[in-house]
Amino acid sequence: MFSLLRPYIFGLDPEAAHDLAIKSLKINFVPKSFFRVEGEEILNIELFKKKLKNPIGLAAGFDKSAEVYNSLFKLGFGFVEVGTITPKRQLGNPKPRVFRLEKDKAMINRLGFNNDGVEIVSDRLAKNTPEDFLGINIGPNKDTKDKTLDFLECFDKLNKLASYITINISSPNTEGLRNFHEEKLLSNLLSKLNELKKNKKIKCPLVIKLSPDIMKEEISNINELILKFKIDGIVLTNTSNQNRENLSDIKKNETGGLSGLPLQKLSLKFIKNFYKSNKGRVPIIGVGGIDSGQSAFEKIVAGATVIQLYTGMVYKGPGVVKNIKKELIEILKKEKINNIQEAIGINS
Ligand SMILES: Cc1cc2nc3c(=O)[nH]c(=O)nc-3n(C[C@H](O)[C@H](O)[C@H](O)COP(=O)(O)O)c2cc1C
Repeated sequence: MFSLLRPYIFGLDPEAAHDLAIKSLKINFVPKSFFRVEGEEILNIELFKKKLKNPIGLAAGFDKSAEVYNSLFKLGFGFVEVGTITPKRQLGNPKPRVFRLEKDKAMINRLGFNNDGVEIVSDRLAKNTPEDFLGINIGPNKDTKDKTLDFLECFDKLNKLASYITINISSPNTEGLRNFHEEKLLSNLLSKLNELKKNKKIKCPLVIKLSPDIMKEEISNINELILKFKIDGIVLTNTSNQNRENLSDIKKNETGGLSGLPLQKLSLKFIKNFYKSNKGRVPIIGVGGIDSGQSAFEKIVAGATVIQLYTGMVYKGPGVVKNIKKELIEILKKEKINNIQEAIGINS
């Protein structure tokens, strides 16, 4: 079905195609059984002490304002991450701001956290209970004076509605956001979030999403803080605003974050490094260029407990989840691994 529609969809501006996808998901006509895979139990996995049906998640940025998460579960995702949500509603950068780099199986976006804001989103989530494991990704508004306060506000207002909260310090499209990778700023942010957790007895797991553009030397500092503040998980990685030299598409020098195939090996390297540094003590959500069972498996054996994708679905359509599950089951059987949980980190 998707291969028939693809030429029409790719004829549209990428953002118009995305809006169309959200509209179709709102209609929510596809039966759940359509995307079911036989023998999926072998893919059951534990994350933050909860059982997930499978380790394949939808990455943040697709369902920016939490409008269609229950339809997305029907596509077969084991979990969905919505957002990035900011305190105030925000329109984002001027259009065009999303680009397909077809020759490189990649995308560049500089959306700039367009979303409905925490009030509307929390209301929406309260009225439409998530039917499965839902992560909420949070960040600061563009014009805010104190980004830390924005993270605190969103964490406070959204934690009861989420299976986990991701603090996004890694989008390249919000000026100054990536400064939170520096030791002092990160330490201050994490200690304030922990204080809030303690004062309000918040139980919701807290996860941090990192950039693939940090230096190797920064990894150990960040890791120490993650362990010190008992952060529950790490999303590796967000998009890159570098790594353009090997791309062939004419749009390769658009400003923004690069996702898709060119990110695959880069994010894999980060997963290996972090897994080795914290010896598997902190679950990793691996993301970057996943579009097949093999690329998902590579991330898991490198140390990811679960994985996420976005660009892979743009290129391969919603059936990509079902295909990845089928391929993963085949790989596990071939490798004589009884359950996906046993595969985590075996190559690191
Ligand atoms: C159009 C677009 C919008 C995105 N928006 C967000 C976002 O709001 N917050 C976030 O944390 N990541 C965002 N991302 C990054 C993805 O969550 C993911 O980390 C990245 O795209 C790498 O995965 P992929 O190669 O499977 O796309 C966005 C990615 C794309 C392509």
